[in-house]
Amino acid sequence: MICSIKQSVSSLQALTRSDFYQRKSPVKSLSLPSVVGGTSPVKPLHLAPVRGLGFGLIEDLRVRRPLIRCEAYEADRSEPVESDVVKGRSEAAKKVKIGLYFATWWALNVVFNIYNKKVLNAFPYPWLTSTLSLATGSLMMLISWATRIAETPKTDFAFWKTLFPVAVAHTIGHVAATVSMSKVAVSFTHIIKSGEPAFSVLVSRFLLGESFPTSVYFSLIPIIGGCALAAVTELNFNMIGFMGAMISNLAFVFRNIFSKRGMKGKSVSGMNYYACLSIMSLLILTPFAIAVEGPQMWAAGWQNAVSQIGPHFVWWVAAQSVFYHLYNQVSYMSLDEISPLTFSIGNTMKRISVIVSSIIIFHTPVQPINALGAAIAILGTFLYSQAKQ
Ligand code: 3PG
Repeated sequence: MICSIKQSVSSLQALTRSDFYQRKSPVKSLSLPSVVGGTSPVKPLHLAPVRGLGFGLIEDLRVRRPLIRCEAYEADRSEPVESDVVKGRSEAAKKVKIGLYFATWWALNVVFNIYNKKVLNAFPYPWLTSTLSLATGSLMMLISWATRIAETPKTDFAFWKTLFPVAVAHTIGHVAATVSMSKVAVSFTHIIKSGEPAFSVLVSRFLLGESFPTSVYFSLIPIIGGCALAAVTELNFNMIGFMGAMISNLAFVFRNIFSKRGMKGKSVSGMNYYACLSIMSLLILTPFAIAVEGPQMWAAGWQNAVSQIGPHFVWWVAAQSVFYHLYNQVSYMSLDEISPLTFSIGNTMKRISVIVSSIIIFHTPVQPINALGAAIAILGTFLYSQAKQ
């Protein structure tokens, strides 16, 4: 019996971990194998994926199956005060850890965005810079695996097959965002990208037939209205830049949907999952980058950039590539620790830090009405997060 519970707990832990890759799905229903007597089917349990190590299952089983006997080592509310202190400390340590993940994620993202824009200003070839960021990340991870700095993931053909649509969507979203940033201010791209929840709801509603509470639909009004206000009042509006950010939003919604379907039951860590995604995206993107831009344009553009900036231009390219991988890696690692909801709030906070820092660094002209549009859109994403709770 206890053995069965242990098995169920560990299978739940595997499922719960894979759930973290599903950035936008806060609560899951799991059908568990029978744990009592091995015959009666257990009702689907509704579990929030953030519940740490999955011990919430024990409590749920106690409520629904009171005949299950609890051994001393199992979670028990009547544990001595000392273990409450230990529990409190580990909770506090976890919060500090998550705080560190968030701070690192935002800081790396700000640095990436600044170097990315500096590179694109001097060398406007977004297909190559997108490819280089994926190539650098892939190389870093292949070296880490070869030198055993990171554990090599155990993958099979089925894993790569399910990763393929995720990688296609990741590639499109990445290139589209970079094309956007090559045409408009970084802040504008990120204001439009803050509209991603609206795409998520619309795709889920009209393509997948999912329904949401009315409050979720209402939260889309400030998101869409704020983005629209920011777009029409943007001083340096460019249609390719605008469409690039919109396509990126749509692609990332599909990336989340595909990873939700594809990663169920897999137990690859967040870091390795992102590494595999980078490798596959690199293979997909390279031929398209050559076809759209190509070595001749790159060579001429590179010479031009180096003559303008100097030989240290290569370090800007290296910085944007390395920081792109690092911020994504940390964001996927933090998914191992937090719920999709906390993740989406963190992502919105990240956009605020990018928008503000890029406006300061690049002296981006902003009209008050434009800033108001951005603020409304960001507020809308917070309301959306709350409504989804
Ligand atoms: C990219 O290049 O992939 C985008 O800048 C990603 O943007 P996001 O991670 O902030 O959505």
